[in-house]
Amino acid sequence: MPSRFKQYVSHTLRPLLIRLLRWTERSGPLPGPRSSVFFHREVHVPTWVVGAGVWGMLTAVLFLELGPGWGALISVAILTTGLVGLFRLFIHHDHPELVHDDDAIALVGVLVVAAVLGMNLWFHTGGLVPYGMPLSAVSILVTVLLHPRVGVVLTLVLALLFGILNSFSLEGALVVCFGGMAGVARSLHVRTRRDVTMAGLWVAAGGGAAVVMLALMERWPLEQCLSALKWVGGGAVFSVLLVLALLPLLEICFSRLSNIRLLELSDVNHPLLKEMSLEAPGTYHHSLITASLAQAAAERIGANALLCRVGAYFHDIGKLVKPEYFVENQGAIGNPHELLPPNMSRIVIQSHVKDGLALAQRHNLDRLITEFILMHHGTCRVEYFYRRAIEQTGAEESVDEDLYRYPGPKPHSKETAIVMLADSVEASARTLENPSHQRLVDHVSRIVDSKILDGQFEEVPLTLAEVSQVKDAFVNTLVGIYHTRLHYPTSQETDVEHRPPRPS
Ligand SMILES: [Fe+2]
Ligand SMILES: [Fe+2]
Repeated sequence: MPSRFKQYVSHTLRPLLIRLLRWTERSGPLPGPRSSVFFHREVHVPTWVVGAGVWGMLTAVLFLELGPGWGALISVAILTTGLVGLFRLFIHHDHPELVHDDDAIALVGVLVVAAVLGMNLWFHTGGLVPYGMPLSAVSILVTVLLHPRVGVVLTLVLALLFGILNSFSLEGALVVCFGGMAGVARSLHVRTRRDVTMAGLWVAAGGGAAVVMLALMERWPLEQCLSALKWVGGGAVFSVLLVLALLPLLEICFSRLSNIRLLELSDVNHPLLKEMSLEAPGTYHHSLITASLAQAAAERIGANALLCRVGAYFHDIGKLVKPEYFVENQGAIGNPHELLPPNMSRIVIQSHVKDGLALAQRHNLDRLITEFILMHHGTCRVEYFYRRAIEQTGAEESVDEDLYRYPGPKPHSKETAIVMLADSVEASARTLENPSHQRLVDHVSRIVDSKILDGQFEEVPLTLAEVSQVKDAFVNTLVGIYHTRLHYPTSQETDVEHRPPRPS
């Protein structure tokens, strides 16, 4: 997205949206950037407000097509209430994470309303055959930006609406349904523009199959069949163009991250990563290895490996503000923490999360990436300085433990949990001495178990079997990386990232 557009959004649209949306804020902003709506990272709009807005717009648009009269209004209201209610029931049971995701609900609503408006326009424009309508674009977009199952349900809903608006034509509904389903099937793992084009080919094949089926069933003349096939092919091409044009815009407007965008972000030539490689090379190296660990673990349990990799790349960008205060960047320049009391040191260390969030917002990093910055330490203790404070005061009771904990929030997804674990495992594994395979297994197990016992994964749906698979993946990756390193036998391994280097 051009930076001029982002500036316009940032300086003009954002303040307007804040004023418009603030009245709906009931319980204050949620922690972190989770509550972003239309570029704004502080205002939370209740999903019922978004849902009601979608219902209202859909009812109005359908009434414009099917009205006038009270009878038409009531029938349209029954139809839209049923559709919205069924969709809510579906996501409540199948995608509970979307129930409170106002961006996701708004995205679905905008796409459905736009599709119905498009149908109105298409049917009232002379010379256009209904089969050429590029409705599969909605199916592909929803699959890429939300979830394939949401794409399937929306395809069925759109096919139903298409049939109703097209003079209750079952043929049109079947063609839309077949084409949309084929598009969803090919969009499951879209990573490149070529994949989007291939999805368009599948849409054409699916819609074409429906046309041939209808032609054989209803004994269409050859000319009618060929004409319908031509329009289905044109609609598929139009769908591909729409997806390619709208995808970047929708990603920004509704805080979604497609695999295409993630691949762009995984480019180590991103300005923040380049700066990190120059200003904080130790942190850069740590981030790359953390990314390898996290990606391997995510692949093992079926989580989003690409998201984990990108999240790990950016999780410590806050260290760019004061790189010399982090052990991995100190090298020969010495340890500035030796001149600071533990309380000051922990403030500096903790601030890398806040600094990272500020940097991410300045560079317009996506919301999902900033979650990794905020959550990669959860509410863990800054262990080394906590213990140093106890050593200095001589009594554990005299040190406020809460002050030495990161402010959170805790990880709330498998991906953020995996990066938290990979971060700790990588930081501590650097100090392992002469590790055998068994020593690596014990080490990883100790780190992972300590995070679980500390309650960091209370909000993460990780099963015990998945935790075990994550440990295996970490060990396998570490075997390839650290097999020549020496063992470090002491405690506080979960926070070695912040410990000053041992004197040699
Ligand atoms: Fe960190
Ligand atoms: Fe880190």
